[in-house]
Amino acid sequence: MTALPPRSAFPTGFQFGVATSSYQIEGHGFGGAGPTHWDTFAATPGNVVRAENGARACDHYHLWEQDLDLVAAAGFDIYRFSTSWARVLPEGRGPVNMEGLDFYDRLVDGMLERGLKPALTLYHWELPAALADKGGWRNREITRWFADYTHVIMARLSDRIWSAAPINEPWCVSWLSHFLGAHAPGLRDIRATARAMHHVLLAHGRAIKVMRAGGIKNLGAVCNFETALPADASPESEAATNRYDAIFNRFFVEAMFKGRYPEAALEGLAPHLPEGWEDDLATIAQPLDWFGLNYYTCKRIAAAPGPWPGFAEVDGAGPKTEMGWEIRPEGLQEFLTRIARDYTGDLPLYVTENGMAAPDRLDKRGLCDDQDRIAYYAAHLRACQNALAAGVPLKGYMAWSALDNYEWALGYEKRFGLIHLDFESLQRRPKASYHAFKTALER
Ligand code: FCB
Repeated sequence: MTALPPRSAFPTGFQFGVATSSYQIEGHGFGGAGPTHWDTFAATPGNVVRAENGARACDHYHLWEQDLDLVAAAGFDIYRFSTSWARVLPEGRGPVNMEGLDFYDRLVDGMLERGLKPALTLYHWELPAALADKGGWRNREITRWFADYTHVIMARLSDRIWSAAPINEPWCVSWLSHFLGAHAPGLRDIRATARAMHHVLLAHGRAIKVMRAGGIKNLGAVCNFETALPADASPESEAATNRYDAIFNRFFVEAMFKGRYPEAALEGLAPHLPEGWEDDLATIAQPLDWFGLNYYTCKRIAAAPGPWPGFAEVDGAGPKTEMGWEIRPEGLQEFLTRIARDYTGDLPLYVTENGMAAPDRLDKRGLCDDQDRIAYYAAHLRACQNALAAGVPLKGYMAWSALDNYEWALGYEKRFGLIHLDFESLQRRPKASYHAFKTALER
């Protein structure tokens, strides 16, 4: 049995947390939330396992007190959550659903009552369907709609939140959803992709400006990173790996911190970016107070025939999670070091997501002994310790996720939680990994 490194093995003040997101846990069928592009994507055959959607999810909308009780009882310091745009503005713009805003108000108060720091993300993927109808992330206007939504949320919550980040994982919002077609809106179009990549960054910059103007403190960004490793020693695969890395690991962070796009990405994207994109870079590169990294896995990349970007993912030999994601903890250490060295300098860094899906089963006593997940967390927490020892200003670590939840295109099949969910009875049962964190955080 593996133990997690104890709190005392981290610097004083190092914060531990868990992360969740609105559509994945709340139950979007409740409380007057408007339809989202995830509802329509899921309703289209072939997109989501068993065509499942977030209409009920974990019913966190009604059971949130239980959930926050469990998170607090494990000794976590931070609760990273998101507000749903479509819950608060069912049409994406215009009339506010007060019931939705009241829900987040109670939720934030509930965190504070339990000693949890509310770490808010404003967008974790549930775009209101009415805005998807207008072109969603392809339409530059979304950057204004998002700024308005930011204002609505912040007018109500900013006096109590601990930190705020506009958009979770810009790569997923743009490339995964508009180039690979794996997430809503399920497009496979390079022009749509280039526009979404740019607009998601401009929306980030404008939202930060809105919040700064409102005097809101502790503003950051959350990007995901995947180590790109050449699948073989050929120069072609090395070049393909560089293109993959430029799109996945450099495009967003380079725009945010250096106000430019990497050449290896512009090679293919430049003809499809909206006219005058260069003029937006200054708005995108707003000063930030912290930066968050989501890290899960690495990819082996080979050159592939066909149009740009000409790369393909090749299966790696290493151990994998139930998602098929190769486990490579040293990648987390490498990214923490690399991001601090190349982009963020002394800025506080946080691991804002890290975790694994496992084929969790309850035993006869209703216990889930997820030792593989504990080993994954232990290895990645050690990677954080190594980064700290190398001088990286890492200030905290958040596990994905508190609860088993709606894992997007994979429906309810893939379980990432520290707490097991019976999606029939909605019963919550802490897994062994939950207890492992509780023990580590006490020490
Ligand atoms: C991240 C997402 C999160 C969850 C995990 C497994 O990319 O931010 O919602 O799906 O992956």
